[in-house]
Amino acid sequence: MVGTETPEDAYTAEPFVPDRGGLPALRRAAADCRGCPLHRDATQTVFGAGKATARLMLVGEQPGDQEDRQGEPFVGPAGRLLDRALEEAGIDPADTYVTNAVKHFKFTRSEPRKRRIHKAPTLRETTACGPWLAAELAQVEPELIVVLGATAGKALLGSSFRVTRVRGTVLEEEINGRPERLVPTVHPSAVLRAEDRDGAYQGLLSDLEVAARALR
Ligand code: URA
Ligand code: SF4
Repeated sequence: MVGTETPEDAYTAEPFVPDRGGLPALRRAAADCRGCPLHRDATQTVFGAGKATARLMLVGEQPGDQEDRQGEPFVGPAGRLLDRALEEAGIDPADTYVTNAVKHFKFTRSEPRKRRIHKAPTLRETTACGPWLAAELAQVEPELIVVLGATAGKALLGSSFRVTRVRGTVLEEEINGRPERLVPTVHPSAVLRAEDRDGAYQGLLSDLEVAARALR
């Protein structure tokens, strides 16, 4: 309909991304992003966090319920599990930069308690949010990227990405015109949901050990 188009109809964060100012400017600008409809129901933008000088960048899917409330990535149950696995693999979580492919929490409300249930972002939403991830990569210039699950993998490596095929290996791919090294693994939330939780955790741990070795 003419005259009622909103910025989110364009499905791209591009016009909201500043081209100078570093991570602090990106974070400030992302707070006002309306590059897709997901900002409407979420509490706030959850931008990446951590060291601008980090050698390792971890990319998840999207903020969860806790992250949406607190405004920081990976501060809920999945984040606690991830921190434990990182430490066990010999990586200090404080030395990493952590972010998500999508910066707003997508959810549905379950009756009768109206709990907010995570809903996977679509490829269209992930693509819309891509300019933020590209800008973070350009600022942090990590030596290695740990790809946490399918959404992050598709965001970085395209829609044909399959976690099970490449997890625990060091990939060398060109992303946004720059060579990057990546180690894909499962999403920590998938470990929490797994029937064999110990087995799934050991799998995540051994993939993170591959990442730790690749950094040495
Ligand atoms: N899951 C994610 O992918 N990211 C978060 O920040 C929290 C849970
Ligand atoms: Fe912008 Fe990404 Fe949020 Fe969509 S999900 S409004 S593109 S920050």
